[in-house]
Amino acid sequence: MISFDPASGVFLLDTPGTSYAAFVPDGDGIPIHVYWGPRIGAGDARYLAFKTAEQFAVEWPCFRSPANGHEEYPLDGRLQFGRSALSLEFPGAIRSTEWTLSGHEIDENAHDQELRLWFDVSHHDVSVTLHYRVYDDSDVIDRWVSLCNDSASEAVDVHRFDSAAWVMPEWAVHRMSHLTGRWAAETQLRRVELTDSRLVLESRRGITSHHANPWFAMDDGTATETYGDVYSATLHWSGSWRLLAQRELDEPAQVLLGWGQEDFGPRRLEPGDRLQTPVSSGLFSARGHGGASHAWHDYALRHVLPSSHEVRPVLFNSWEATGFSVDEAGQRALARQAADLGCELFVLDDGWFGDRASDRAGLGDWRVNTDRFPQGLGPLISEVHALGMGFGLWIEPEMVNPDSDLYRAHPEWTYQFEGRQPAAMRNQLVLNLARLDVAHWVLGELDALLSANDIQFVKWDMNRPFADAGWPGEPDRQQRLWFDHVTGVYAVLDALRTKHPGVAFEACSGGGGRVDLGMMARTDQFWVSDNTDAVDRRYIQHGYSQLYPARTMACWVTDLPTFINKRRVPLAYRFHVAMAGVLGIGGDLTAWSAAETAEAAELIEVYKRIRHVVQLGRVHRLGEPSRSASAVQYVTSDADEAVVFVYREAQQYDSLVRPIRLRGLQAGGRYRLDGGEVVSGDVLMNHGIAPVLTGDYASTLIHLRLVR
Ligand code: GLA
Repeated sequence: MISFDPASGVFLLDTPGTSYAAFVPDGDGIPIHVYWGPRIGAGDARYLAFKTAEQFAVEWPCFRSPANGHEEYPLDGRLQFGRSALSLEFPGAIRSTEWTLSGHEIDENAHDQELRLWFDVSHHDVSVTLHYRVYDDSDVIDRWVSLCNDSASEAVDVHRFDSAAWVMPEWAVHRMSHLTGRWAAETQLRRVELTDSRLVLESRRGITSHHANPWFAMDDGTATETYGDVYSATLHWSGSWRLLAQRELDEPAQVLLGWGQEDFGPRRLEPGDRLQTPVSSGLFSARGHGGASHAWHDYALRHVLPSSHEVRPVLFNSWEATGFSVDEAGQRALARQAADLGCELFVLDDGWFGDRASDRAGLGDWRVNTDRFPQGLGPLISEVHALGMGFGLWIEPEMVNPDSDLYRAHPEWTYQFEGRQPAAMRNQLVLNLARLDVAHWVLGELDALLSANDIQFVKWDMNRPFADAGWPGEPDRQQRLWFDHVTGVYAVLDALRTKHPGVAFEACSGGGGRVDLGMMARTDQFWVSDNTDAVDRRYIQHGYSQLYPARTMACWVTDLPTFINKRRVPLAYRFHVAMAGVLGIGGDLTAWSAAETAEAAELIEVYKRIRHVVQLGRVHRLGEPSRSASAVQYVTSDADEAVVFVYREAQQYDSLVRPIRLRGLQAGGRYRLDGGEVVSGDVLMNHGIAPVLTGDYASTLIHLRLVR
């Protein structure tokens, strides 16, 4: 429910469990945040707005501005001294934005409502709209902003245009959880206390990045997995971005989230142009970090991810098995073994096109290499289908190797500065998808590929960040590429999905370099990390699960030792870690022993029986990953089925696993464990289970079913 009271300027957004309120003082100011938390009434919101206005009206000492930190959307200019969400430059180098509220609109849709607040920028023909959306079935609030240059003659330079500013409660301590990482070590969870200063997380790489993820969760230092107030927000965006948390002494903390790194350079808005930010979604949860994750996962599955009600198939991927050495005979052999194991989808990774014998050549030439596949992909695809599996293919459409026919024909299609040699990474350059002709060419190539071959799955990769982000001959359009490249990728993906509805997409960027809700809205799963070591993976998956659901988390079982850290972990442990997401196999099956193959086939069989619980159920993180025993649990929405994975990396002394208390079961219910003994939900949740694990890298899977 959304209400707006023009007389007081108070607007109130109600979600099923929370309320969010702000007001526009006298109609000509910046909206001021007054409340976000458990449900309150409209009268309460008006009272809080009145008290806030009263507090602002007293004589403030010089050097302080009462509204600082309280702004719903801080504007650059006037008495605004923090970092602003909107910073415009008008002709004459005027860097101050003032506005008046010109009206509002509330759209009532079947399952959501949207509020639009319209503002006219003073002295200029520019208008800004603040958008808010709430859902009937989620406590998540979506926010975004649109900007229109209505002038017939004046251009406006956009220096900063964030999606939202999220105002935190006035706590003594603000502890911010966030995700950091790097290639092969993505989504590492960190918790830091804000000081009276600024903290910036950002990507300057043109992709979301392995190094930080546009998400935070704030608490007062006391929240746990199951207890406490947690404020959280994210950004639906797959390019460069910035998250800036600012807190000054005696002011509330405020977190700005938006596309574009700091100093991306002004983006010019020509007369008549319109620009809209990506969505930033925010969430209040009174049920700790675990409760916040549950609400995020529900939202992602209901409102972001396509086809989220379907479980994902078990796939085999050729990359770690064959690298660039692919040919028809080798892939056929792998396909037969993958089918024997019980895989449902066979994915041919890199190496099938152009002169792709290594990473030095071929990107951009999306033609089947006929030395390797003399009759094209048709015979392999037919065999894969005959074996009862779907067929998937790897592509990296935003890239080109200088050693390729595409680059020889169109060297001007890459990002580069006039007269400079662009820096290659992995021997490749980034294609300028902000150019309509390039985006159009990419769409044509992929459409032709999907039309000519019976393909069910595409792994869309992106294996290097932007650098030398120049657009020769178009200096005025150059700054647009940070935005337009991403919308170009979105447009190609959207068009392909419409034209080929039977094709599922996996988003990959050298592993988890482009994991975000923008990409999630147009793909079916993420390749979360190139690191397939089961021990490292537990930490990566723990961080990933803070925001993203297991249904999107692709995990492979691969060979020993792992190429990342040369670790050797038993097959069952590797499976149990990968089975906590969307299971896949990435090893060289031709080298697996009969015993390994038999064990793997059995575990895949088990996975098929429990995957609906993992992929569509609710996750409970029963402790942080550690060297001693810790566990992760999944429960169906009606709590009639649950799966628990227990892991222990290192045995110390002859210690037994201490009882692990489960969560989210039916208190009065009785559960049968692995088809054997029956234990009450009360015992499972209030005392716990203590599986017997012996030795290092020990793990187990327990499947619980409610006894009717
Ligand atoms: C990236 C991906 C890998 C694989 C290779 C192929 O590194 O993350 O899974 O597809 O590219 O070159």
